[in-house]
Amino acid sequence: MRLLQEKIKNDGQVLSDQILKVDSFLNHQIDPALMLEIGKEFAKRFANEGITKIVTIESSGIAPAVMTGLQLNVPVVFARKRKSLTLTEGLITASVHSFTKQETNEISIAQKFLNAEDKVLIIDDFLANGQAALGLIDIVNQSGAELAGVGIVIEKSFQDGAKMLSDQGIRVESLARVASLANGEVTFKSEKVE
Ligand code: G4P
Ligand code: NA
Ligand code: NA
Repeated sequence: MRLLQEKIKNDGQVLSDQILKVDSFLNHQIDPALMLEIGKEFAKRFANEGITKIVTIESSGIAPAVMTGLQLNVPVVFARKRKSLTLTEGLITASVHSFTKQETNEISIAQKFLNAEDKVLIIDDFLANGQAALGLIDIVNQSGAELAGVGIVIEKSFQDGAKMLSDQGIRVESLARVASLANGEVTFKSEKVE
């Protein structure tokens, strides 16, 4: 997605060979116009899949997920990372290990918001090692719903997540695929001579 690539080039900061900072439009401050275009692009790519629900994870997945839900006219459910005080029963849970943060956390979605009639599109902001996506897929599977695929705003293709999911036969649609962050520069996969 050209608009997104340009935004990453212009406003993203390469913090290291591994980490891209995009807090001016995705992870802290949010660019609503860009999010709307992102929602339209995901909706286009999954238009004929009969999606009934979008599933994401708090907090940074919510903005692109809501815009996608708006375009597909379906509800959006976000997995919670912390236990809610008012929401304690009827939870479907999964554990997610973050290699970046070296910690494992339980994520959950209320059973009543996902069922066997649903066809789910998972949306998230980043795909790195794919552990958050795996946790969400685990929850979708436990609910009995069908998974249509995973939509990612920024895929770091040099990490394992995208290949790991594709190898499992899961459809992954990433709007920007970062091949490398070496030398302080963002190189996209499509630009690379292969
Ligand atoms: P994984 O799920 O793909 O295995 O990712 P990992 O554990 O490495 O990522 C943990 C958190 O860091 C996630 O956000 C993920 O979106 C984010 N992340 C991973 N790589 C990058 C990167 O290069 N840049 C930025 N900006 N974020 C990255 P989170 O902790 O769940 O936070 P949030 O959703 O509340 O923002
Ligand atoms: Na994030
Ligand atoms: Na995220």
